[in-house]
Amino acid sequence: MKRSLQDARVLLTGATGGLGTALAHALSRRGARLLLTGRNQDALSQLAAQLQGRTETHVLRADLTNPEDRNALIQSAADRFGALDVLINNAGLGARGLFENSDPEVLRKLMEVNFFAPAELIRTALPLLARGRQPIVVNIGSASGRRGFPVRAEYAASKFALAGLSEVLAAELSIHNIDVLLVSPGHIATEFFRHFVANTTQAGRTGQMHARGVPPDVAAEKIVRAIERGKRELIFPFKIWLTLLVNRLFPWILDYFAARHCRKHYTAESRLRQEPGSPQPISDSGGP
Ligand SMILES: NC(=O)c1ccc[n+]([C@@H]2O[C@H](COP(=O)([O-])OP(=O)(O)OC[C@H]3O[C@@H](n4cnc5c(N)ncnc54)[C@H](OP(=O)(O)O)[C@@H]3O)[C@@H](O)[C@H]2O)c1
Repeated sequence: MKRSLQDARVLLTGATGGLGTALAHALSRRGARLLLTGRNQDALSQLAAQLQGRTETHVLRADLTNPEDRNALIQSAADRFGALDVLINNAGLGARGLFENSDPEVLRKLMEVNFFAPAELIRTALPLLARGRQPIVVNIGSASGRRGFPVRAEYAASKFALAGLSEVLAAELSIHNIDVLLVSPGHIATEFFRHFVANTTQAGRTGQMHARGVPPDVAAEKIVRAIERGKRELIFPFKIWLTLLVNRLFPWILDYFAARHCRKHYTAESRLRQEPGSPQPISDSGGP
């Protein structure tokens, strides 16, 4: 189904971040009417100033983990637009480190921001979306929400939850002709890793991996095109699409390499291994 974004009424979360800002620009070029949100008021005002004159733009500061802020956001969309055509759940947080070394708060925080907040925002927005024109919910997930990669347990759990919700809602919301698009990207070249709620691992080069990621404006353009084309899921870049295909067909290959990678790079970081009487080192020769 083709969808025009000209005059589409859009609520975009995480507009103050790398991908969100790029999405705001891409949507404004299509002539969409925007309600943008984030926690950083200065960044929101700056973005609004950049978009002024190009398209109708409103901003509202909100912490999406706060139910009152979420309600205020939907009320603002109702007051300004009367209905919603596009809801983009883009706000998100990451964390990195061995699960055994991590704090329970990290899991709670990531589930709050990456899963409970978008889930409840969708629920609150449904009456407005049901009145929209070719309405669509866009959930920005992650490749980590389709395959768990080491030292991202909390992040993967939160994005898997979002992927599961998206799959169910794609069917349920068809009752109201509301589409659902799940976006599962690999690395995007944003400051995402600088905002990690925790990073307890010394191994790996997170910053370099993100720097080599897809430029945010390229990612945003792919997402906007997927919205226009009415796609159900978008996976990019191609090497991530291929990795997820291999994972679907032969998951044991990724299981083997992930476990080998962990034994090689993260054994020394294991707090459990540093305790007296800890288990003996595991040989790296174990096959799949
Ligand atoms: N970068 C990547 O490699 C990558 C890869 C796959 C998927 N993703 C996903 O893409 C999305 C955008 O990430 P990004 O790369 O643009 O990261 P980013 O630059 O760190 O942006 C994150 C955004 O989320 C907002 N946010 C965080 N906590 C919030 C809260 N409690 N309430 C409201 N807003 C909150 C931030 O707003 P404030 O700064 O104003 O608080 C910011 O606008 C995320 O869902 C992320 O998981 C990113």
